[in-house]
Amino acid sequence: MSENETTMETAILDGKALSQQIKQEIAAEVAEWVAQGHRKPHLAAVLVGNDGASRTYVDHKVKSCAQVGFTSTLIERPADITQAELLDIVHGLNADDGIDGFIVQLPLPRHIDDQAIIEAVDPKKDVDGFHPSNMGNLALGLPGFVPATPAGIMTMLERAGIETEGRHAVVIGRSSIVGTPMSLLLSRSGNPGNCTVTLCHSRTRNLAEECRRADILVAAVGRPEMIKADMVKEGAVVIDVGITRVEDPTAKRGYRLKGDVDYNDVAPKCSWITPVPGGVGPMTIVSLLRNTLAAAQRGASS
Ligand code: GUN
Repeated sequence: MSENETTMETAILDGKALSQQIKQEIAAEVAEWVAQGHRKPHLAAVLVGNDGASRTYVDHKVKSCAQVGFTSTLIERPADITQAELLDIVHGLNADDGIDGFIVQLPLPRHIDDQAIIEAVDPKKDVDGFHPSNMGNLALGLPGFVPATPAGIMTMLERAGIETEGRHAVVIGRSSIVGTPMSLLLSRSGNPGNCTVTLCHSRTRNLAEECRRADILVAAVGRPEMIKADMVKEGAVVIDVGITRVEDPTAKRGYRLKGDVDYNDVAPKCSWITPVPGGVGPMTIVSLLRNTLAAAQRGASS
């Protein structure tokens, strides 16, 4: 194709490349922070049990800390840990002045009440943004920690210069971690933001019809390739949060990662689309790093 020929092409929202760029920006801020005489920001992660996907996510988080000049601590416990023991760990991290922020990787084993653990985290160290006080601040448009996955998606939209104001966003999935905070961020006043938002879930009557109305479609369900081309408007921006391991004996690890969007079917209709892997996932990690740097800076000034 010659240089002056134009076609309506699908652009890929490359979360991997963008996350590397933002990590460099964070590393520069950390270097300056440390040069001012502060200690390195310190993130702790608590990993319970042997879930393969959770281990992979936590490993990425720990590795990313080193890349930006943070200290990290990984606390691993077996799946049969009691709720009281896990609460003790959370209380210890709350009280430890050497830790700026921490996360407890979800999901937790069934005998543990996730909500009780989330509520035990000091909101000032809650870099996942899951504590009710951070969630409440988000709902009210007040400052606080924003959950990393929706925050990463907002950064992607912003850095790509995607116009959101007045557009119709459809979010599929109402989880506390992604769908609900995503709907709040897209609807709140700001840039990106100012969308008209529809939040779809398992009881939505005609999902395909709702999806077809979306200028911006965010799929966060965890059902591989459920979004097909006939559910997507021509020119839509499609953000795929799904990352499900699907068995595949021909793959090196024995599985393949699949998004909620049937990428090959849907991509030709989109103005922008995120791939899986390499889309939203890496952006989640940079948002967690940003939250941790903010926690360190707030902690030092309080
Ligand atoms: N499980 C899936 N996503 C997340 C996340 O962002 N934070 C934690 N703590 N657990 C998760």
